[in-house]
Amino acid sequence: MASPKQSQESVATFGIRPVERFSGGSSAIKRPREFTHFSYDSEHVFHPDVSSLKYYYPPSLPSDLCAGFSTFQKHDDSTDEHITSLLRSVMLHEQSTRTRTNCDILTWRGMLTKILTTPFDRFSEFEMNATCFQGTIFIEENHAYKVGQRIQQDREARQRGGVSSERQDMMSFWGYKFETLSTIPDVWDKVSRDAIEGRESDIVENKSQYCSVVSTGIGGAKLVLGGEVDAVWDRKPDPRPEDGQEGIQGTRWVELKTAEQPSSDKDMVKFERKLLKFWAQSFLLGVPKIIVGFRNKDGMLVSLEELETQSIPGNVRRVGKRTWDGNICINFTAAFLEFLKSTIRGEGVWRICRRPQSPSIEVFKVENKGHGEILTSEFINWRTKI
Ligand code: A3P
Ligand code: MG
Ligand code: MG
Repeated sequence: MASPKQSQESVATFGIRPVERFSGGSSAIKRPREFTHFSYDSEHVFHPDVSSLKYYYPPSLPSDLCAGFSTFQKHDDSTDEHITSLLRSVMLHEQSTRTRTNCDILTWRGMLTKILTTPFDRFSEFEMNATCFQGTIFIEENHAYKVGQRIQQDREARQRGGVSSERQDMMSFWGYKFETLSTIPDVWDKVSRDAIEGRESDIVENKSQYCSVVSTGIGGAKLVLGGEVDAVWDRKPDPRPEDGQEGIQGTRWVELKTAEQPSSDKDMVKFERKLLKFWAQSFLLGVPKIIVGFRNKDGMLVSLEELETQSIPGNVRRVGKRTWDGNICINFTAAFLEFLKSTIRGEGVWRICRRPQSPSIEVFKVENKGHGEILTSEFINWRTKI
């Protein structure tokens, strides 16, 4: 994508602070409803099915999260995948149901997580690309920026003598190892005891995923979000015949997370800040339960805790340190999405930027024509045909 040719006048700014201006009862929220889904297999190939869906089965405790690091099959995320799979999944759904998915904004859940947590994450930084097509704003992460950010963070950590990139790789592995130790590939009664007990020696990989595509709403914005779901609590209900594809509701999804076991007041504050991200991520896709695997500093998994997603903001307010407020996050997001709807209109490509500690999010045009690489020709061709 070409470098920004912006002039100062063309930058639209959305103020973040003071965050109290977004306080009060929360804006209307539409409960997320899955209307389609897809899987990536162990080679990260797209399949329009549930083949990579996993089922939660508690891990044994304690467990060593470091074991198997040398054989980790890590997805190469250096190539830009744009929103290609999400578009394909929506297109296939439209082709099979002969309906068009109407919404104001379509993106990966991760983009909305960044926006939802912005009011209380002073150091967050992001760049996204956006384009408008047939009345919908499509948003992707600016992949080149993310890659540059990682290189810079690595360099800074080395200079400060902070966490080395080797340790960071290991810490990131712990999350995937926890997923491997906590899931099985089918419902409980169809998986053998040997397979359950053998999970400790299973190869850990992060190429396969099950992705849920939901319609939801925040304030006046209708959204379509796609995101990975780690597991299902019991089983995914079959669609009711009268609902056709639309009936896959009320699935008891589970988000798996690891965190360091807090042992001081300072640790509790750190964990509460982490809870903001856990909550935002799960709330957006309608994942009702989060299983936290607590570990020590050496990556030994020592205990489990089940959290109800919807109770997290209330607990932070009532018994926590009040480091964040869920209503402010939701109201901020509702107002920001309205701002995007009025800014990103007509032809071209826009960039949405937040710099660390910046008091605002900036949106400016980087291309006057076309859709950059955000939309695929497969999707555009399909949409111009119907
Ligand atoms: P944890 O969140 O338990 O650390 P997710 O929780 O979103 O399903 O992601 C699964 C795991 O991917 C994470 O587990 C973490 O190990 C890794 N991961 C996700 N985002 C990451 C990031 N920005 N940097 C490093 N690792 C990340
Ligand atoms: Mg996940
Ligand atoms: Mg997870």
